[in-house]
Amino acid sequence: MAGKSGDRGVALVTGASSGIGEEIAKRLALEGFDLVLAARRGDRLKELATQLEREHRTRAHVVVADLSSLEGAKQLTADVARLGLEVTVLVNNAGFGVHGNLADVPIERTLEMVQLNVVSLTFLTQHYVKEMVSGGRGRILQISSIGAFQPSPYYAVYSATKAFVLSMSEALHYELQGTGVTCTTSCPGLTATEFHKVADHEKPDWMNSLQMTAQEVARISVSAMLRGDRVTVPGPTNWLTSVLAQVMPKSLIIPMAAATMRKSAH
Ligand SMILES: NC(=O)c1ccc[n+]([C@@H]2O[C@H](COP(=O)([O-])OP(=O)(O)OC[C@H]3O[C@@H](n4cnc5c(N)ncnc54)[C@H](OP(=O)(O)O)[C@@H]3O)[C@@H](O)[C@H]2O)c1
Repeated sequence: MAGKSGDRGVALVTGASSGIGEEIAKRLALEGFDLVLAARRGDRLKELATQLEREHRTRAHVVVADLSSLEGAKQLTADVARLGLEVTVLVNNAGFGVHGNLADVPIERTLEMVQLNVVSLTFLTQHYVKEMVSGGRGRILQISSIGAFQPSPYYAVYSATKAFVLSMSEALHYELQGTGVTCTTSCPGLTATEFHKVADHEKPDWMNSLQMTAQEVARISVSAMLRGDRVTVPGPTNWLTSVLAQVMPKSLIIPMAAATMRKSAH
């Protein structure tokens, strides 16, 4: 994947209008990739595209896409195809969480989350992995979460969507051996973005002090993707948490996750 801008093809980043996705787009521009920036808020994407084209020798295309339906995901691939670009990097970053008791959160919001975090991500992965394998090159970066490693009360379905992403993507990483294509999963922990506002989760102050910046998460995730790593967990504390979650009995780890995530944890 070495080479100057143009040789590397194009990186498609979903959820590039804020947070981790925006920082991944900046990082990839710095690495010399041209970009397709996708999300619903086109004004933010245009602003970012202008900034990237000004600051780097890169082309940045904007595609407004709502990935909360399969039709939206299909429309995105059709719009990218119309641009006549070879996607050599896919970053499946768009996603959101829903905080609260499973019994209380609106079912429509829960299903929209499953559609975005799981169904659209799977569709885009399958669509572009086929193209990449036939072209003999490509990188896929899936943004999962540290919540993928254990069941998380008050984020029950969100955590399950991220476990799906991790499991599918680790298997895909294996299947892709020898093809010239790799699939890397990044599992960030608490990161300072719009995520918790969107999830309707008012975090206690102690949680804010543990947050990583979106820039740092993006830097670590993109480096792992360019190396073709299977999984990365950004930050030593998050890495340790992910290891403990995999070795501790569920009877201990689930109440610990609950204590961290409950609404009244001020
Ligand atoms: N922040 C954390 O603590 C944390 C921790 C672990 C994992 N993550 C994961 O990191 C990823 C990025 O989240 P973030 O923290 O950067 O949060 P964020 O700032 O809220 O960014 C979410 C991005 O997803 C896009 N998006 C949401 N719904 C969409 C839809 N229906 N169609 C297309 N795009 C949509 C948003 O763009 P528009 O609103 O413009 O569409 C936005 O660009 C997510 O997958 C999240 O689960 C976050």
